[in-house]
Amino acid sequence: MSTVFDIPTAELRRRRSAKWTTYPSDVLPLPVAEMDVRLAPGIAAALHEAVERGDTGYAGDVTELVEAFRGFALRRWGWKVEPDGVATCADVGVGVVEVLRRLIRPGDGVLIMPPVYPSFYPWLRESGARTVAVPLIDRERGGRLDLDGIERALADGTRVVLLCHPHNPFGRVHTAEELRALAELARTYGAIVLSDEIHAPLTHTGQGFDPYLTVSDAAAETGIAFTSASKAFNVAGLKCALIIADGRRDLLGEMPEELPWGVGHLGLIASIAAFSGEDAWLERLAASLAANVALLRDRLAEALPGVTFPEPRASYLAWLDFRALGLGDDPAAEFLARARVALGSGPAFGLHGEGHARFNFGCSPELIDEAVTRMARALRS
Ligand SMILES: Cc1ncc(COP(=O)(O)O)c(C=O)c1O
Repeated sequence: MSTVFDIPTAELRRRRSAKWTTYPSDVLPLPVAEMDVRLAPGIAAALHEAVERGDTGYAGDVTELVEAFRGFALRRWGWKVEPDGVATCADVGVGVVEVLRRLIRPGDGVLIMPPVYPSFYPWLRESGARTVAVPLIDRERGGRLDLDGIERALADGTRVVLLCHPHNPFGRVHTAEELRALAELARTYGAIVLSDEIHAPLTHTGQGFDPYLTVSDAAAETGIAFTSASKAFNVAGLKCALIIADGRRDLLGEMPEELPWGVGHLGLIASIAAFSGEDAWLERLAASLAANVALLRDRLAEALPGVTFPEPRASYLAWLDFRALGLGDDPAAEFLARARVALGSGPAFGLHGEGHARFNFGCSPELIDEAVTRMARALRS
């Protein structure tokens, strides 16, 4: 199967998105979580048609989106989503912050599991939360929930857990067993689990995924999920996300009136197309991602021996461990300065981020090769 990552770099450099405009043109930009793909055909067609029609007003009724997502969730994960338990918002970040604002008072603890997606920290600050960090354990092997640590934090009064499932930056898909144990703890201590499932459609070939809300009755009662088409179909700039809170519909009723108005009309159109008819494109993407993981592993072994990363089971991010190379706390800063390769800075992911950097392999094999070559050359010189 041919790769979906086939866009020449010169063409990518004409993009005006954050990934391709944040750094000078001599830098290979690998931090921002966008993929270098063309849109899936059905999404491109739906957007072209909307532009042709001049159909660029406000987003209207979202019933079609909710139905498209319900179909997607049922086909992919056997998840029966109740339409009344779904709300829409501009993006996952906005949704999490608004839900947190309703769940906590300023200064209340919210549990996160570092190293984790850096925007979790500003989201918590924005909602007035205090960060309660319970790092993932077994990190060299892809990370696992520290259920004992989570129980201690809940016993200590924390009432909200922000789960990243699949986990960014490891690409770990938490198991149903772990999630059931988490849900039992949440029920016992009267806590809520906010499950950020934005990377879920990006599981690699052969890897299953259990949405948090499906793993048990306790999870359905204690969970609120957040998702969107934005990562999997590369439409983050179009702004459309879903909050699924079947067991906590009361909360959805308390959301700010203007929240659904943040949804972008083109985002709505693109998301309907994505969730309705692009399963085959996702399969092609998953195969391309697997090939890129293998290439990254081979090239690192050849050119930068000692640099390792846990096998990602979802998405397009690799958590590279540079500690054997003695590059200090922030290897990304070294590589930006010395190799003109931009990686995600490890310390921004919180505890245990030092000595690491995140590599976005949602790019062409040529760029992966070029990035590793430049990094190795910089270390030799
Ligand atoms: C785990 C996770 N959640 C949320 C987001 C951002 O989502 P949004 O743009 O919908 O706020 C990202 C982006 O990379 C992410 O990795």
